[in-house]
Amino acid sequence: MTLLPTIKQLLSMEAVGQPVIIRGWVRTKRETKQAIFIEVNDGSCLSNIQCVLDSSLEKNQSIAETILRLSTGASVEIHGELVPSPAKGQKVEVKCQQIKLIGEAPSERYPLQKKAHSLEFLREIAHLRVRTNTFAAVARVRNRMAFAIHQFFQERGFYYIHTPIITTSDAEGAGAMFQVTSLDIEELSKSGTLIDYDKDFFGRKAFLTVSGQLNVETYCQALSRVYTFGPTFRAENSNTTRHLAEFWMIEPEMAFAHLDDNIALATEFIQYLVATAIRDCAEDVAFFDQRIQPGLRESLERIVQSSFARMSYTEAIRELEASNANFEFKPYWGCDLQSEHEKFLTEKVAGGPLVVTDYPKEIKAFYMKQNEDGKTVAAMDVLVPRFGEIIGGSEREWRLDLLEKRMEELGLDKEPYQWYLDLRRYGSTPHSGFGLGFERLLLYITGMTNIRDVIPFPRAPRQADF
Ligand code: 4AD
Ligand code: MG
Repeated sequence: MTLLPTIKQLLSMEAVGQPVIIRGWVRTKRETKQAIFIEVNDGSCLSNIQCVLDSSLEKNQSIAETILRLSTGASVEIHGELVPSPAKGQKVEVKCQQIKLIGEAPSERYPLQKKAHSLEFLREIAHLRVRTNTFAAVARVRNRMAFAIHQFFQERGFYYIHTPIITTSDAEGAGAMFQVTSLDIEELSKSGTLIDYDKDFFGRKAFLTVSGQLNVETYCQALSRVYTFGPTFRAENSNTTRHLAEFWMIEPEMAFAHLDDNIALATEFIQYLVATAIRDCAEDVAFFDQRIQPGLRESLERIVQSSFARMSYTEAIRELEASNANFEFKPYWGCDLQSEHEKFLTEKVAGGPLVVTDYPKEIKAFYMKQNEDGKTVAAMDVLVPRFGEIIGGSEREWRLDLLEKRMEELGLDKEPYQWYLDLRRYGSTPHSGFGLGFERLLLYITGMTNIRDVIPFPRAPRQADF
């Protein structure tokens, strides 16, 4: 099969005088005395291609009938010739010779007949919303960013590791996991007996993973530079515009690397992705800048050019305490930074992306490297304006005795973590890594405000349709 050029390819080729075949969906139809103008979009880019049909063709009965049934959303195949466009806004258009209606979209029923729809309404028709400019643009940017992530790491000698989705350990050391079982829980609930996990599929309790980190660390201790990029699951009941129950995470891990190397990698990574979006998704970014978040493009350009600000958690708390801002949660040393605090720090104090380091050990995961002060760990979060945390990471505790001691303090059962502790028993190295939430990155780059709008089929509390 030879693939026809897409509308994106045709518009960039400007192959005037060539016969062309257009296949796509009608966006608008406009009739004047002389001609019928049909805007067709195939999703390959934001732009439609204008197809012009001479009114005289309507004398043909079947063409006239086709035109009548052509409405927004209908799929068509158009044969014609690419010609220079006399109208503004496009260099070329298609002079139609033949038009075929492939699939109708009756205007009295098609939900996207109207031009403007609220994002809330579109969320209820997730199977159709990608036919709008906004969601198609998000899909294209998402695609380009996924590819850029692989390019970034592959260019720097990182190996892509597939970590498991099903796990028996809780990577972050704190609840909120989805349980996976093959037991018939309805039957069990009827019988009223205690659950015997020995009879479950894995012979023990199993879950959907919250992070690929612990597994990717094993490969890090052999391949030196690795990353995982896959779906992760969190059952926390946070019904916010920043949380999903199923989201994608990118987690690089570097052997022989300390916190500063980690921060340098995270900074370069974000700047690389933003620069790629500006360069390769220019049309979509311009659309977001115009329609979704005025000033977006300029703010993205600033990110590429300037270094990220950096401060310790202790300094951050001092800033918050000194601010006199009206926070819902009063900040104090030892508190977990709330999104309102993060936004304040990055928007009001740093005026751009901010790396906060050295958090109290009590509010961070067990595997983080303990600092000399005995109170903090070598953690780093990257915060950005508009929604706060986009990256969370740390140097890892690579000293067996200190890691075991920390696990004991936290009351963690060490038995399921023996394989993880082996990494510290044999050829242990200092190592560091972080996790970037893919959808948070997309919020940042597209200017969209609700995380449910940057993933095709969002999973959130009471939301798993489609
Ligand atoms: O800070 P988190 O929990 O870090 C980890 O999972 C580490 N194991 C990462 C590592 O060091 N390898 O999550 C990392 C990032 C957050 O900064 C955020 O961007 C995103 O994942 N994230 C979520 N995104 C959407 N919905 C949620 N419920 C998210 N929870 C975290
Ligand atoms: Mg975090």
